[in-house]
Amino acid sequence: MTVKPILFNNLPADLDQVRLPKHVAVIMDGNGRWAKGRGLPRIMGHQRGVDTLKDLLRCCRDWGIPALTAYAFSTENWGRPLEEVEFLMTLFERVLRRELREMMEENVRISFVGNLEVLPLSLQSEIARSMKDTQDNTGIQFTVATNYGGRQEIVQACQAIATLVQKGLLNPNEIDESLFERHLYTTGISHPDLLIRTSGEMRISNFLLWQLAYAEIYVTQTLWPDFNREEFYKALLEYQQRERRFGKV
Ligand code: FPP
Repeated sequence: MTVKPILFNNLPADLDQVRLPKHVAVIMDGNGRWAKGRGLPRIMGHQRGVDTLKDLLRCCRDWGIPALTAYAFSTENWGRPLEEVEFLMTLFERVLRRELREMMEENVRISFVGNLEVLPLSLQSEIARSMKDTQDNTGIQFTVATNYGGRQEIVQACQAIATLVQKGLLNPNEIDESLFERHLYTTGISHPDLLIRTSGEMRISNFLLWQLAYAEIYVTQTLWPDFNREEFYKALLEYQQRERRFGKV
């Protein structure tokens, strides 16, 4: 097997280390089209997509970006053909089992956000194991959104808060943004500064609706399996050329 050289091992010189995003979120779209374009079954696109994600995670580490969140499976993705859903569930499980050792060696802290309780039990136990084993790691924070929906996350936070009010443990006046955040799946994780979506669609697709309020959005036509370090570099370059005003002048 020939080993492809990793381009951009170090942060490209024209990127400013100080103004890098601290947290990048990705909507990994275009796996199916990538496979179709090659006359392959869609699942091959997902399989290749895992390699892309793995290198992006390493790239974040190499370039000094401390957090990455990937949208692996949305609450709407259950509507895909059963065999594709089953393939994805098995793929997640297999990847977690296979990569845990390397994640430990590379000091990655993995966590999952979403409604995990309805996932296959064997996947739930791999998820629990990977989160437990990596919880004290101090390197990159890697979050995987699985069976995740932004609206559903907000609704479950409302339910939890309403229950506290009903029990007399919380006064409605005490509900503010910071309390609300503590009831989201992502509590303790910084908000993404940059959202990257591959394969051209100009949508958020129910991803991190609360957390992306002030994120810069970068959409590329590139399909996810082709999103390499050079593509990431282009996204970061554009990010650094934007002025972030957070609603101010
Ligand atoms: C969207 O492409 C992609 C997905 C729904 C799955 C993404 C999942 C991975 C890359 C695996 C990640 C693995 C782990 C363990 C985190 P699409 O199928 O919608 O592509 P299309 O729009 O071209 O049809």
